[in-house]
Amino acid sequence: MPKILLGLDIGSHTIKAAQLSRNKNKVSLISAGYIPTPKVEVDSTGRTDEQIMANSISQLTHDMKLSTNEVAISLPSYKVVTQVIETPLISDKELESSIQWEAEEYIPLPLNKVKIDYSVIAKNELNKKMKILLVAAPISLIEKYMRIIELTNLTTISIETEILAAVRSTINSLPTLPNIIQLSIGATNTEIAIIRQQQLVFVKIIPIGGNTLSRAISEELAFDFQQAEEYKKTYGIEEDKLEGKLAKIMNPFFNNLFPEIDKTITYFKEEYPKEDLMTLVISGGTAKMPGLMLGMTKNIGVNSQISNPFINIQSDQEVLTALNQDAPIYTTAVGLALKEF
Ligand SMILES: Nc1ncnc2c1ncn2[C@@H]1O[C@H](COP(=O)(O)OP(=O)(O)OP(=O)(O)O)[C@@H](O)[C@H]1O
Ligand SMILES: [Mg+2]
Repeated sequence: MPKILLGLDIGSHTIKAAQLSRNKNKVSLISAGYIPTPKVEVDSTGRTDEQIMANSISQLTHDMKLSTNEVAISLPSYKVVTQVIETPLISDKELESSIQWEAEEYIPLPLNKVKIDYSVIAKNELNKKMKILLVAAPISLIEKYMRIIELTNLTTISIETEILAAVRSTINSLPTLPNIIQLSIGATNTEIAIIRQQQLVFVKIIPIGGNTLSRAISEELAFDFQQAEEYKKTYGIEEDKLEGKLAKIMNPFFNNLFPEIDKTITYFKEEYPKEDLMTLVISGGTAKMPGLMLGMTKNIGVNSQISNPFINIQSDQEVLTALNQDAPIYTTAVGLALKEF
């Protein structure tokens, strides 16, 4: 029996969904789609907001003709601590009883208000240290998302951070590349991750994204936000468009971002001096920006490509042709639906 799972990525700008079916090792795409996120504060306490979100999700899933009611959802990265931490080398049992204590310094909330998840990434016998992927999400946030999903009559069977799902998707689409730097740029935040030998070994979240770019354009050119969005999407950062005016306006964003990527690469080289980090994969809506891929390659010195989560997933040619243009937007949703149980 094939196992079917819906991946649902509720972003601040767009809600994305992908429905995948898995039969042994063969994964097929059944359908995918997106819808604008309604303009409500997802973390406000008003229950009507939850109903509005649920209505949008229901509209999207209705159009996708669901074959399952089981859904894997993601939590917005900036509200969750997702971090690789280093601890003394201890046994799994000892870690289980001390993880709360180890995690405390990384979590800005009281420990009784967060749900902690962790997994051991690597153990180093030489320096007696180990690396742990720590995820800590506010319980109130998890409950909020669970209530929204309940209102849609779907059943939540998994909740994880956006970037973890995006990384799973990249590993599935680029299985032969040993080391990858992943850059996921949404509307409100950007995540940088390093995938080493099919495993996430570093992650950093920066609170800037596509909205930052549109706001800069709207302020600089006295456009309303929507108009600024359109300009950004049409001309991007290509120097030969509008005499490079937009590229210049968006420069400060990249002047913040590039050093963060450089630092991440430096970290990788220090940690794994014998290995190369030769590919940068860009996902999220902003990945579609004209000129971004070339700009990245030029400034970072690492070969950049736009994420295509549909690689290595069987699908109808017609469906694929319709989706391909938006491929990077679906990275997280596909990663969620790829989760194995
Ligand atoms: N062609 C394009 N060029 C530039 N930016 C684009 C393009 N298409 C979409 N975007 C931008 O991508 C962003 C939306 O991407 P995405 O759907 O990944 O965000 P999100 O997941 O809702 O946001 P977040 O995860 O930060 O909450 C918006 O800022 C939008 O302007
Ligand atoms: Mg997102």
